[in-house]
Amino acid sequence: MKGIVMAGGSGTRLYPVTQGINKQMIPIYDKPMIYYPLSVLMLSGIREILIITTIEDIRNYKKLLGNGERFGVSITYKVQKAPHGLGEAFIIGEEFIGSDSVALILGDNIFYGSFFSDTLKKCISLSRGARIFGYFVKDPKDFGVVEFNEEGEVISLEEKPLHPRSNYAVPGLYFYDNTVIEKAKRLKPSGRGELEITDINRLYLEEGSLSCINMGRGMAWLDTGTFDGLVDATNFVKAIQDRQGIMIACLEEIAFNKGWISREEVLKTSKPLLKTNYGGYLMDLVKLKEKR
Ligand code: G1P
Repeated sequence: MKGIVMAGGSGTRLYPVTQGINKQMIPIYDKPMIYYPLSVLMLSGIREILIITTIEDIRNYKKLLGNGERFGVSITYKVQKAPHGLGEAFIIGEEFIGSDSVALILGDNIFYGSFFSDTLKKCISLSRGARIFGYFVKDPKDFGVVEFNEEGEVISLEEKPLHPRSNYAVPGLYFYDNTVIEKAKRLKPSGRGELEITDINRLYLEEGSLSCINMGRGMAWLDTGTFDGLVDATNFVKAIQDRQGIMIACLEEIAFNKGWISREEVLKTSKPLLKTNYGGYLMDLVKLKEKR
């Protein structure tokens, strides 16, 4: 399975900050926001990743992440010329996806919870249909909303409904078979002029091949679209990291634990970062492994 991170957008709710920098570059505590969705793809076991961003931001992403070698993955880049919606990811990424299945994650979505890796690993074995998630929120109006029947089957999907039929929002993490490319090409722009991911999901629902996993209340899915959301996400990451001494979304750690990069590679990456906790953490990681 391949992985796509959508990291475009204009981030108007974060102006003036995002007038000068791409939203997904903004820090969530001690690392750039995009590290968090990248960590989700890597934890799933996905090693071929496409980042879709704007023409202005592509250079900075290349500077930050390079070709992904340092994290034991391959990262390539494509431009979304205008905010035509998430559905366009599969048209822009057609060549990259090839004949594979694909996971899409939004660059501003942060997930954290125990056993999440196990759920992810199951998702990447998907060969037919689509798998999405449902997450109970107080106010689902700003999201895709999924409605279930008493058997727990999906019966409707709506994008940002004024009168939501349930409290279950659809987070920005989706797993699709290869027919997603053809489905994306069939879409018509919505009222806000975008190819909506919810419309793709609805096509899968209509053909009876959509499954939706309830993330449950033990999972954290954090919103980073506003200044308050950014502060909350930063405080959340800091609280967990300080308490456990274990980092959330340390890409080198994930790669090292999976055996994708060597001890020497971790050490090399840590050197220019030694003035930060991140660099120190990488150093300790290698030392701990030596002691075991
Ligand atoms: C997008 C999707 C929406 C989803 C949300 C998750 O919303 O369209 O269905 O629930 O991401 O973050 P947007 O970021 O375009 O407002």
